Amino acid sequence: MKHKKPLLIGNWKNQITSITGAEKLFTTISKKLIPFKNLETIICPPMIYVGLLGKSVISRNVVLGTQGLIDVSKSVQTGLITREMVFNSRARYIIIGHSEERARGITDNEIRENALCILQQPLIPIICIGETSRDKNHLYFEVIQNQLAILFKKFGVEYMSRIVIAYEPVWAIGSNAKRTCTPDECKIMIAFIRKTLLDLKYDIKLVQSIPIVFGGSVDVDNAQSYITTGGADGLLVGRASLDAKTFISIANKINQVK
Ligand code: PGA
Repeated sequence: MKHKKPLLIGNWKNQITSITGAEKLFTTISKKLIPFKNLETIICPPMIYVGLLGKSVISRNVVLGTQGLIDVSKSVQTGLITREMVFNSRARYIIIGHSEERARGITDNEIRENALCILQQPLIPIICIGETSRDKNHLYFEVIQNQLAILFKKFGVEYMSRIVIAYEPVWAIGSNAKRTCTPDECKIMIAFIRKTLLDLKYDIKLVQSIPIVFGGSVDVDNAQSYITTGGADGLLVGRASLDAKTFISIANKINQVK
């Protein structure tokens, strides 16, 4: 069973530098997407904007999310944000384990711990995985397998049913991308991810119901193909989510997928 509607996730990273800019982008997208009923859009600004943007949520079609690890310590901390703060600011999703976060030294174990902490609240972690490069011997499959094993071994069925997995091949992300991932490559990896989850002893119905989205240089021209040919349940969009017009065009393409 596929996820009901394709997910379109905007990952603003740290690229919107003012509150006014964040508000303008969020409200423009939210208003324009009201008639788009065939997808669910999730906008993920940095945590600092979430409280403010929570007041601007106007449509069920556009949900507020955020990005980054939260505090799992349950103790008094300076400089950290808790899952309750995120939830009370009206965010409902959090992107964690992004390759840029991993490049700063965050491990799969920490990402797992964060996901489990986030899931104690009615929040959904968007958990990123992906290989840094592709080699001729296909060792990148092993990279994905290892990430999944650490993240999700004995994770718990009730938690697995509330996550989103984002497959983001690191070599296809950002302005330094080597090339774009082809829809066929995306399709093979998504099938491999589901097979690996089956190997981790999750039930086939559960595995089929987990939304797996694709991210990496998604733009207006290739967006549809990752869903129609690539088998993705949605998209995680970086650069192309920073411009309202471009992001709305992507949403329009996804809204038309039958
Ligand atoms: P990109 O970023 O769309 O700019 O490649 C995607 C991501 O890093 O999530």
